Amino acid sequence: MTTKQSATARGPVTHEVDGIIEEDNELPKWWVTALMLCIGFGIAYYMAYSMYGIFDTPSVAFEKESAIARAKEAERLKAEGPVDKAALLLLSKDSATVADGAQVFTTTCAVCHAANGGGGIGPNLTDDAWMHGGSPDAIYKTINEGVTGKGMPAWGPQLGSKRVKAAAAYVITLRGTKVAGGKEAQGAPFEGD
Ligand code: HEC
Repeated sequence: MTTKQSATARGPVTHEVDGIIEEDNELPKWWVTALMLCIGFGIAYYMAYSMYGIFDTPSVAFEKESAIARAKEAERLKAEGPVDKAALLLLSKDSATVADGAQVFTTTCAVCHAANGGGGIGPNLTDDAWMHGGSPDAIYKTINEGVTGKGMPAWGPQLGSKRVKAAAAYVITLRGTKVAGGKEAQGAPFEGD
């Protein structure tokens, strides 16, 4: 095998390996410019979308649109919608409803269930055990109708359906979060929605 490197009349530098000649040719200017523009665009795109968030990436834009749609649907459901599992689950994913529910909880429920839901006079709402059912509709029913004779008042007549729905949405978000120092579990284990 012979390797040679020499400047020849054919081009600036020629490599020759076993008789195969390779020449270094300058890339056309337009080609190099296009490459640099592409690289520059790529860096600018990455910085604008992923580093500094000047523009929303598709997933962020989608999440924003979904939140707006959820909020609209939540308003409709609170005002008139049927109180079923799907509606309550949707409400539990709407941040404004959950915030309302958290406020209701603090002012109305925390005395018996503790501010973090860990339980006191009433049971722990952050574990996986439920006496009256841990499904969204069961939770709503317990809050709305209470447990007569067991110390859990019926909140429907006092709070109105909008706030009961919000409170249920908030309690749904507490499920299974198992706050520290919570009361021991009561009732049957519940998994899933
Ligand atoms: C006066 C005390 C008291 C207040 C206030 C109270 N609760 Fe209760 N709650 C209880 C008691 C006691 C029970 C358990 C009833 C039983 O033993 O069956 C209970 C049970 C529950 C349950 C069912 C738990 C399970 O394991 O199935 C939910 C859900 C609940 N409460 C939510 C709420 C919400 C939401 C509020 C506020 C709107 C609220 N509670 C306010 C005392 C209270």
